[in-house]
Amino acid sequence: MEPLITLKDIGRKYVIGTEVIHALKSVSLTINKGEFVALMGPSGSGKSTLMNILGCLDTPSKGEYILNGINVSHMTDNELAEVRNTEIGFVFQTFNLLPRNTALDNVALPLIYAGVSKEKRQERAKTSLENVGLGNRITHKPNELSGGQRQRVAVARALINNPSIILADEPTGNLDTKTSIEIMGLMEDIHAKGNTIILVTHEEDIALHAHRIVRMRDGLVENDFANTNIQRVQRQGIPEFKD
Ligand SMILES: Nc1ncnc2c1ncn2[C@@H]1O[C@H](COP(=O)(O)OP(=O)(O)OP(=O)(O)O)[C@@H](O)[C@H]1O
Ligand SMILES: [Mg+2]
Repeated sequence: MEPLITLKDIGRKYVIGTEVIHALKSVSLTINKGEFVALMGPSGSGKSTLMNILGCLDTPSKGEYILNGINVSHMTDNELAEVRNTEIGFVFQTFNLLPRNTALDNVALPLIYAGVSKEKRQERAKTSLENVGLGNRITHKPNELSGGQRQRVAVARALINNPSIILADEPTGNLDTKTSIEIMGLMEDIHAKGNTIILVTHEEDIALHAHRIVRMRDGLVENDFANTNIQRVQRQGIPEFKD
């Protein structure tokens, strides 16, 4: 089987004046469809830089990136945008929701770029919100939702296009412990449905929900292990938020 992601000798350097920062020195990695990977490592080790490349928000200074059979290493911004829209769902630490829009409109947003009709957009966004347990919050705006609910909206948005990978950079970074566990439970459900997830976290107990842990240091992969100590969230389905 061809891997979903193949990185070969990926480097990313930033030039600021006379200083050159090698944020990624040489990263080679393969990730198969259906994997749940946690990316760990100290601050400044290159995790977000790598996630930006994986998410086609940035291109490497050297090396090859093959995503779902497509070589995306040398694409133009427009070509990358197209790949992003079809292949990738993002979840961010700060949720990145549009503050004046309802949960439904936030979730439906990626479908506008995909050229889906308004009626179909609303229908699919509603289903996606129901799938994360927010069927009764669709008309709420972000400031009318809790932190965990906001992140659920972001997860529903990430899933709306049936992307081939979900990229989550510190998705629980702004959440309390209980809510973090709830979001990890949601990630487990999504993974169980066959999705591929790559998640950055600083917290060991969050990383233990993943099946594979890749640790970075100084722009290199320091180690890459299967997680034999997987922690499962104890729960009965996704809790509904009843009024
Ligand atoms: N746009 C940029 N311009 C210059 N240097 C950058 C830029 N983005 C990141 N860097 C540098 O690249 C290195 C890797 O940064 P990166 O953001 O990937 O780290 P990280 O592992 O995500 O850290 P954290 O855990 O703090 O989020 C750091 O030394 C950082 O200062
Ligand atoms: Mg980072």
